[in-house]
Amino acid sequence: MTLQANVETIATLPRVLADMNYLVPMAERPRNYTFEPPAGVPRYNSEHEAHRVAIHDARPIADKVSLDANGFALVQHGSAVRDFFDDEEVRRVYYPEIERILKEATGAYRVHIFDHTTRRRVPGVEDRSGGPRQPVQRVHIDHTARSGPQRVRDLLPDEADELLKGRVQVVNVWRPIRGPLLDSPLAVCDATSVGFDQLVPSDLVYPHRVGETYSVTYDPSHRWYYVPRMRTDEALLLKCSDTSTAVPARFTPHSAFVDPTTPADAPPRESIEVRTLVFHR
Ligand code: OGA
Ligand code: FE
Repeated sequence: MTLQANVETIATLPRVLADMNYLVPMAERPRNYTFEPPAGVPRYNSEHEAHRVAIHDARPIADKVSLDANGFALVQHGSAVRDFFDDEEVRRVYYPEIERILKEATGAYRVHIFDHTTRRRVPGVEDRSGGPRQPVQRVHIDHTARSGPQRVRDLLPDEADELLKGRVQVVNVWRPIRGPLLDSPLAVCDATSVGFDQLVPSDLVYPHRVGETYSVTYDPSHRWYYVPRMRTDEALLLKCSDTSTAVPARFTPHSAFVDPTTPADAPPRESIEVRTLVFHR
């Protein structure tokens, strides 16, 4: 689907209006700690501000969007996993399923799955505070033009030089564990609606390494999508980074959001995301 066709179609799609938390432009480089920093160091040096955006139903255009044209894709896939909170089962059963999905979706010759995160929303609890991981209500991209290839060097040091001669993508695969999902859905932003000047390289500080992510500043051109009442047999593929400069969609902002249509008694969101390196020759 061409960018122009996409822009025309979007007006016909069902949508919700919701707040998205964007980076407030700042002079310093944004820096977030994933743990309690040393005394006197603030956990965050950045501020976010809510902007009301339209978030469109991606299902009617699911067969038209793609990782390279838009930065995301929706696939049908029922998993054989019985307990997504069982890390051993996820690695043994889910990882091979994801590898297959991604090879099929991208034509890649190799997929390296490097981690997964389960989230279970607990009202009033902050993310990374010791309990279950919480939805992320800030517009972000997990990897950048620099940290995508860097992950290859970190995780596959012996093969990195060879692998980086080809094209490398970082792709996340996200799905609800319990469905249909009504609470705290994940929204994705068409990567071709985002200007490179709106992507702000940011430090994400772990105890033993510093990752680079993009924070994102607001622009009214951003086109947002989600999958209403997403089912457990659906998976959202989203491309965080791509070494190819030849494709329109390389960096895909995303964020959880509070859906104003969520019923008060909706079960809290449970989800799993898998992070992968996708290799092309
Ligand atoms: C991701 C992500 C946030 C969420 O999958 O990369 O940012 O709320 N998820 O699930
Ligand atoms: Fe993310």
